[in-house]
Amino acid sequence: KMNQFINDLMSKMTVEEKIGQLNLVTAGEATTGSVVSTDVESKIKAGNIGGIFSMTTPSKIRKAQELAVNNSRLKIPIIFGMDVIHGYKTIFPIPLGLAATWDMPLIQKTARVAAIEASADGLNWTFSPMVDISRDARWGRISEGSGEDTYLSSRIAREMVIGYQGDDLSKNNTLMACVKHFALYGASEAGRDYHTTDMSLHRMYNEYLPPYKAALDAGAMSIMTSFNDINGIPATANHWLLTDLLRDDWKFNGLVVTDYTAVNELIDHGLGDLQKVSELSLKAGVDMDMVGEGFLTTLKKSLDEGKVTLEEIDRACRYVLEAKYRLGLFDDPFKYCSDERAKNEILTPEHLKLAREAAGKSFVLLKNDNQTLPLKKQGTVAVIGPLANTGANMPGTWSVSADLANTMSLVDGMKSALGNKVKIVTHLGSNLTDDAALQERSTMFGRTIPRDDRDPQQIIDEAINTAKDADVIIAALGESSEMSGESSSRTDLNIPESQKRLLQALLKTGKPVVLVLFAGRPLTLTWENENVPAILNVWFGGTETGKAVADVLFGDVNPSGKLPATFPQNVGQLPIYYSQKNTGRPLAKDAWFQKFRSNYLDVSNEPLYPFGYGLSYTNFTYSNLKLDKNSITKADSLKISVAVKNNGNYDGEEVVQLYLQDLVGSQTRPIKELKGFQKVFIEKGKSKDIVFTISEEDLKFYNQQLEFISEPGKFKVFIGTNSRDVQEAEFDLID
Ligand code: IFM
Repeated sequence: KMNQFINDLMSKMTVEEKIGQLNLVTAGEATTGSVVSTDVESKIKAGNIGGIFSMTTPSKIRKAQELAVNNSRLKIPIIFGMDVIHGYKTIFPIPLGLAATWDMPLIQKTARVAAIEASADGLNWTFSPMVDISRDARWGRISEGSGEDTYLSSRIAREMVIGYQGDDLSKNNTLMACVKHFALYGASEAGRDYHTTDMSLHRMYNEYLPPYKAALDAGAMSIMTSFNDINGIPATANHWLLTDLLRDDWKFNGLVVTDYTAVNELIDHGLGDLQKVSELSLKAGVDMDMVGEGFLTTLKKSLDEGKVTLEEIDRACRYVLEAKYRLGLFDDPFKYCSDERAKNEILTPEHLKLAREAAGKSFVLLKNDNQTLPLKKQGTVAVIGPLANTGANMPGTWSVSADLANTMSLVDGMKSALGNKVKIVTHLGSNLTDDAALQERSTMFGRTIPRDDRDPQQIIDEAINTAKDADVIIAALGESSEMSGESSSRTDLNIPESQKRLLQALLKTGKPVVLVLFAGRPLTLTWENENVPAILNVWFGGTETGKAVADVLFGDVNPSGKLPATFPQNVGQLPIYYSQKNTGRPLAKDAWFQKFRSNYLDVSNEPLYPFGYGLSYTNFTYSNLKLDKNSITKADSLKISVAVKNNGNYDGEEVVQLYLQDLVGSQTRPIKELKGFQKVFIEKGKSKDIVFTISEEDLKFYNQQLEFISEPGKFKVFIGTNSRDVQEAEFDLID
């Protein structure tokens, strides 16, 4: 039926109208680059626009849609997209924080709520999920993905797509998902944004490509090309990537859109002028050109000159029209334009409740000496630091639709959660950084943080005075929200010096100090880990951050977050990840330096906090790791069980993690790979038997010929509370 409809429609379209469908414009509200689109209204009427992005509200969208369906010759509706990344108006934790929940149903629910709210405000397409694996915390956009691990990211990609698209893309409360950034953007050199990626096929297939594939397998109907160069050909002009792999091997039949002006940027990549790069991009497999209008302004000429074919333009046009058809826009172009829904379905109490739950579950307790936490709900608490009183920083990066003016600060959120039970006093304590220009760059888009340019010591003294009667000090420190995200790469991952001086002074008071750490990436916390009794990493928790921090600090919620990315000891260890190879000269177990072995002179190979790490107020012990057989054939499955006991004084959730190692094979393999996890609730004093089942499928990998195979031989299985602290056993895979 869809084919017939689109064939009929395309038979009536002029070449210009077909090319018009490939044009995705902004309506003047630029986000991350220069606005190229002008005169949007007359372009809509002329049939020169296929989609608009970052336009919101039913009234504005209705107006634009009316122009398309009433005033353009063929009345083709427009598709409306936006970066709905971790919530629309109800903002959830940044994606790296959501990944730290390891809670798949919860993650799916957050995407569902985002889709309900955004579609209630007129949208039908989101540029999410972002599934780029990153192992280099210098890269600011590590905050927007699910971290370093292939398996965890793939699982999350699937949940997000299902959450956005629901069971029927044509319903008016779902959004078309757009997997991004295809591909390998998270591996750009030196953690610098928009930079080059150069990677072996074997690493690509085994480690970096599976999350994109998982999102497509879950039904994502669009995909965005990335800005980076891949082995010499930028993704946006990469025929191997966009056609051989994506269409021919993976059989993707949805829409391929570029990133913002990515076609035009091929000029600076050095591939030619605008006409040439538009030609290359279309031929590579791009269907829709975001913002740059290279397609709109050059493809007709290229067609006339025989540089592109009508079949190539038809192919791209068909994918755009199919997306619109799947969304049901041809049946009812105004199905997302309901003022009633916009009024009733956004920022509802139910959505805010989910946001509070998600935030609390995303926090990772990094340290808790002498049970500093949880705190008692009594006395006076001093909340000190540049991140204590800024609501605008709570949503975190890439929350373009957040209502910054009405987002509660940490202090206000805590007050609202705690009522009169606890007296809260507060002070700025220090600037975000001593460098005013750096602070300005780190607080763009209205994410302001108060600044006080008096003598820093005077500000610290005032803060200490504010805290003098407090029973405990909460130090609200770390990164501002715009210190991570796009174009926010850093070479120094320490907490800025200005804040460190404050922290030292707070510790000197002798009062218990809890570091509530805001971070969009793994930071280097070696000094803090040695000196601060308790550290709670809260990422950027979204709209309900302040309340959720109170929930966790005061014990209403027992922290259960686990790191989705390794925290290094220092920047020199980057890139760092748990699933590294053994090398030919590994260190002896428990050694930290050996001459002529693979290590550093000045720091051990160990991370500060390993992947999968996170404490709880209670204590889980693992015992009795058992396999139901010592060997399996390719047709068998293996049951692996372990007893997990809650030995502490609090009920709590634990993420039980399963890793495998293929010990001998035709190529080198990681020393550990996550292959399963279960998030379980265990009451204090109780124990649970956790059972995993694995089969040959879990033992497969891409070999040098890129065949997905398993190789008989010995395997190790590890189960534990993080990637380092594990129990282990062995089994054989036999032919
Ligand atoms: O979706 C984003 C992408 O992640 C970065 N460049 C801009 C796009 C659209 O806003």
